[in-house]
Amino acid sequence: MRHIKFFIAGAVALCTSVSLSAQTLTEEQKIGELVSRMTLSEKIGQMNQLTGTGLSGDMTSAVRSGKVGSILNELDAGTVNALQKIAVEESRLGIPLVFARDVIHGFKTIFPIPLGQAASWDAGIVETGAEIAAREATSVGIRWTFAPMIDISRDPRWGRIAESLGEDTYLTSVLGAAMVRGFQGSEGNDLTAPDRMAACAKHFAGYGASESGKDYNTTWIPRSQLRETYLPPFKAAAEAGAATFMCSFNDINGIPSSGNSWLNVDLLRGEWGYDGMLVSDWGSIEQMIPHGYAADLKDAAEKSANAGVDMDMMGFAYDRHLETLVAEGKVDIAKIDEAVKNVLRLKFRLGLFENPYTVPQGRDAFYRADALAAARKAAAESAVLLKNNGVLPLKTTGKIAVVGPLADSGRDQVGTWCFDAEPEHAVTPLQAILAEYPELEVINTPSLTHSRERNTKRIKAAVKAARNADVILCFVGEEAILSGEARSRADISLPGAQRELIAELKATGRPLVLVVMAGRPLTIESEVKMSDATLFSFHAGTMAGPGLADVLFGKVSPSGKLPVTFPKMVGQVPVYYNHKNTGRPANDITLIDDIPVDAVQTSIGFTSYHLDAGDRPLFPFGYGLSYTTFEYGAPQLSSEAMTADGGITATCTVRNTGGVDASEVVQLYIRDRVASLVRPVRELKGFKKISLKAGESTVVSFDITSADLSFWRADGTFGVEPGEFEVWISTDSDAGVPARFSLSGVK
Ligand code: GLC
Repeated sequence: MRHIKFFIAGAVALCTSVSLSAQTLTEEQKIGELVSRMTLSEKIGQMNQLTGTGLSGDMTSAVRSGKVGSILNELDAGTVNALQKIAVEESRLGIPLVFARDVIHGFKTIFPIPLGQAASWDAGIVETGAEIAAREATSVGIRWTFAPMIDISRDPRWGRIAESLGEDTYLTSVLGAAMVRGFQGSEGNDLTAPDRMAACAKHFAGYGASESGKDYNTTWIPRSQLRETYLPPFKAAAEAGAATFMCSFNDINGIPSSGNSWLNVDLLRGEWGYDGMLVSDWGSIEQMIPHGYAADLKDAAEKSANAGVDMDMMGFAYDRHLETLVAEGKVDIAKIDEAVKNVLRLKFRLGLFENPYTVPQGRDAFYRADALAAARKAAAESAVLLKNNGVLPLKTTGKIAVVGPLADSGRDQVGTWCFDAEPEHAVTPLQAILAEYPELEVINTPSLTHSRERNTKRIKAAVKAARNADVILCFVGEEAILSGEARSRADISLPGAQRELIAELKATGRPLVLVVMAGRPLTIESEVKMSDATLFSFHAGTMAGPGLADVLFGKVSPSGKLPVTFPKMVGQVPVYYNHKNTGRPANDITLIDDIPVDAVQTSIGFTSYHLDAGDRPLFPFGYGLSYTTFEYGAPQLSSEAMTADGGITATCTVRNTGGVDASEVVQLYIRDRVASLVRPVRELKGFKKISLKAGESTVVSFDITSADLSFWRADGTFGVEPGEFEVWISTDSDAGVPARFSLSGVK
């Protein structure tokens, strides 16, 4: 008996010391210890992501045998918990699953598409939207979203520009990081909170450079441009703590991202020291076969595993071939262990080992008052006023005709990439106007049933009715299905018979206000000309109606600024603000159709433009009007000479010279006049959203350091070069006069 007591005492002491040491084990030690106990099959299981099939036999047995690490698109909290119970309580090691979904711009309360959120130039709005999306999505068990999408998009033909934060690297970097903080919590450790979810910086990398804007298309991106334009938003997301990255579908200079060791290992892990988890895109490992980069699925698995892709989303490559590849020595077990550690680290960071289950909250988690208010604010702040002949803001009395295919389409106003939206919960512009402006007599006669409709039979009746109105409010644009993944368009004009509708409404002679709701810039030069005012809204979500009504009736003065250039015609694409100057820069050539042929050679010379479009876009990056006017003083510099280890401060007095209190996004641009690589004519390096009462002025200041002036050189180094620089503080990328300074003391 004495021996047994001794043994028990010893066992208790041992367990206590082990459990105590288990509590003091670091996360990495816990991960390492767990990996050491896993079989190869269990390791490969963690690298496998499947789309949800409820509690199907295949899924439950795969989970039970540890062959699944993550499930996407499972949206029923009960099913999520049931699958999690199998993983945690019935599989050999009890490793929890992580459940994922594309929660791109809202789960149930839908915010403006990311391109619209970018038009607000407001990191706070973006972060709040992501925080609310996380609160709603985690209520059904989603703990990992595939957002932010931070692909720089300079081609409006590309359907996924809708999902991006626009054409500019700096703006995308700032807003992408804000989205990461919103999903994950401002401090990394928030990620264990049950209402937070892991972000995913995607698509890594260069996807927005798809040739001709055709989705999934090849890209050719010189490494200095990859580093200068496409990679910084991903670095910013990593620095903001993004827990995961996702591969892109495209090849970069012939190597698909899912098999790109330089990108995923040398740069992401080696240079950046990133320790998050890299997931493939849907089937992107398997798609290296049609790419012509892998001979078969086994070859694809080998190439991706060796290129540092930790998890295979629905490609079945790892599940079917990794075990053999390890046995054949083609994939080293160390690579597998590295990948599994990255997967387990995500799960530890989410707190899933301690709290694997979801506490279902039912539908009262959705559409809460604060969520709807935030979505309404985002919709208003993302609206961009392109033209106003004084007809806006509208009066709240009298007769108003509300016309057009997007006046009352809850499905279309929420835009693309919102699988879980409920259009019946969207408040449309027509509904908002009827509900909030009862003194108005609203004429609403059907004209076109949807944006692509070509049948003009109902236009006449709609126009006839509109003739009696004091003002015509016409909602046009794109259906939601015309942008998003695999939704590229070669013609980016208004679809269907919308231009005919606008022309007929114009012919009535009544004041005509256009509201354009779309997922991309559109070539709307003639429509804008026909209008007395044009307001552009990138599919603004559940509360698009109230938000736009707030702007149209003057409760909110529009402050949105374009996050992407609007071309006059698609033939100008790619057209973006931070272009190079060329050896023959054109100077604001405005072509008129009737230039006599012999004058063409003499009057506009041999410079870089299109004969039928000139050298300017329809609207430049950063453009957006207000109900007031703002006067910018010339930028003042703290010094005209800056040393590389120092800095200067640029200031500008901005005055609200109109009669309306309003906000304005003040933008800072720089230009490096001469360098070892030709530099863009302007680069956004800062912005501040200010609010000024009518008549009020303020001094806006920006600090400039060498970091703002540095760029990636041909030799692969990042640095600053001495010489002359220009600085603008302006209302958009085409306005303002520069101040100059020189930089010296570069080592
Ligand atoms: C899609 C998209 C990606 C998305 C994934 C899961 O094909 O490219 O952005 O997150 O599959 O739905």
